[in-house]
Amino acid sequence: MTQHLAAPSTGTSAEAPGHPTGWWQDAVIYQVYPRSFADGNGDGMGDLAGVTARLPYLRDLGVDAVWLSPFYASPQADAGYDVADYRAIDPMFGTLLDADGLIREAHDLGLRIIVDLVPNHSSDQHEWFKRALAEGPGSALRERYHFRPGKGTDGELPPNDWESIFGGPAWTRTTDPDGTPGEWYLHLFAPEQPDFNWEHPAVADEFRSILRFWLDMGVDGFRVDVAHGLVKAEGLPDLGSHDQLKLLGNDVMPFFDQDGVHEIYRSWRTILDEYPGDRILVAEAWTPTVERTANYVRPDEMHQAFNFQYLSTAWDAAELRAVIDSSLDAMRPVGAPTTWVLSNHDVTRHTTRFANPPGLGTQIRTPGDGELGLRRARAATLLMLALPGSAYVYQGEELGLPDVTDLPDEARQDPSFFRAEGQDGFRDGCRVPIPWTREGSSYGFGAGGSWLPQPGSWGAYSVEAQSGTEGSTLELYRAAIATRREHPGLGAGTDVLWLDAPEGVLALGRPGFVCTVNTTGAPVRIDAPGRLLLSSGPVAVDGDTVELPADTTVWWTV
Ligand code: GLC
Repeated sequence: MTQHLAAPSTGTSAEAPGHPTGWWQDAVIYQVYPRSFADGNGDGMGDLAGVTARLPYLRDLGVDAVWLSPFYASPQADAGYDVADYRAIDPMFGTLLDADGLIREAHDLGLRIIVDLVPNHSSDQHEWFKRALAEGPGSALRERYHFRPGKGTDGELPPNDWESIFGGPAWTRTTDPDGTPGEWYLHLFAPEQPDFNWEHPAVADEFRSILRFWLDMGVDGFRVDVAHGLVKAEGLPDLGSHDQLKLLGNDVMPFFDQDGVHEIYRSWRTILDEYPGDRILVAEAWTPTVERTANYVRPDEMHQAFNFQYLSTAWDAAELRAVIDSSLDAMRPVGAPTTWVLSNHDVTRHTTRFANPPGLGTQIRTPGDGELGLRRARAATLLMLALPGSAYVYQGEELGLPDVTDLPDEARQDPSFFRAEGQDGFRDGCRVPIPWTREGSSYGFGAGGSWLPQPGSWGAYSVEAQSGTEGSTLELYRAAIATRREHPGLGAGTDVLWLDAPEGVLALGRPGFVCTVNTTGAPVRIDAPGRLLLSSGPVAVDGDTVELPADTTVWWTV
């Protein structure tokens, strides 16, 4: 039996009060991971010159903005998320002049630039931390971090029971200048990433100044790393659980999502508002619920927050519908656009997630059924791009790249691999340099090799192989993003209208559109809701009805 889909209403696209409108509300934002995007100088490591040279590719892809993961001076203990100097570019990525050139060139091409800001912790090679260690106990600089005496008879036990997100204790013991064991310091991530003490006014002042430095350079916004971590509960209380990783993301922790963080973002917002143009703050905040995420984007705080609940949702119609509804419901009262994201540099690429059975989380080590994964990934992307709000695309997903699940251990660089085998820590698999050409050294990534080995199959995924190729994933992304641009109704508003659909199928109405998603592994026949506009796989309309192939999304105009 075919299923009739009622025509959608135009939906309510009224702006909720509070936030001014701006480009970011329905923007498609492309994440560049500078190490792995393009290598301008042939040393095997991506760099800013490489990014600048490839900006026309991003313009042609049709995205509105580019978010760059950190390129600051850093010993690279956590791939640049350990910053030694927030106002300098690491020589492996280039110079400040290169950053200036990149920002200007992007603006000339109509692209905005968002940079990563890492305020929860610095590198242990940051000037403050080095001096704090060298000056020993009592150094005023120690107050800018969390130094504490240890417990036990000789201070040999960590000050509390917190664990590092990368595994092991969240505390490392220092050695005093005279060589004896000294105080401990807190690092929620690697030991090379000491946490700042945000109660200290010098820390707050320094970050206000760093914001201005980059705003003066012309950036259009900041992606705020670990935005939920800056404030720790008074007294750094024990957690009282040995299963900390299970609690993460499900509960408010004494070191995550404390209410005090919001005051910081209010103060930052006033700085951004002093600058001309629409500059934005985007929260990387892993919180237990979308409602708590919404707190970060209240009208006087940030503009957007990543929707990790969406990223973590399985390829299942009911679950997708539920998370779309709860995401839109949570953001509506604060007036911020909902965001959507499927992949980034910290999780297994969605092609590989969807190739595996659900329930394995976001760090997966098996390739699964690659063909199935790609089919679902393409369908998931078309669904994401049909939703109201802003969407994030991670470099290489437009090529349908899978995760590299068989990297040799000796090639790995992710610190969490070394600290927490078996827990997290397989992030290198989504960070392999992307292929530009069918052949050639590092498939056109650069004139040299690539810092993580690329699989032999990479050439077939290259931009060269997919450009102009009918049905390729790259052409699907280009067509979908162009269609979104031509029909502003697609990303606008705050609502979707759910239409009746058979089990396992989603049918959602947007102004002038219907998007149908078959999440099942079998074809489903429905009434054709309108004129076929775009589909994630081959589909044939048969008179008034259409057979939606398995794991396929179709856009219709109505
Ligand atoms: C964020 C980054 C991740 C990094 C961590 C510590 O979660 O996305 O890559 O390891 O913060 O800075």
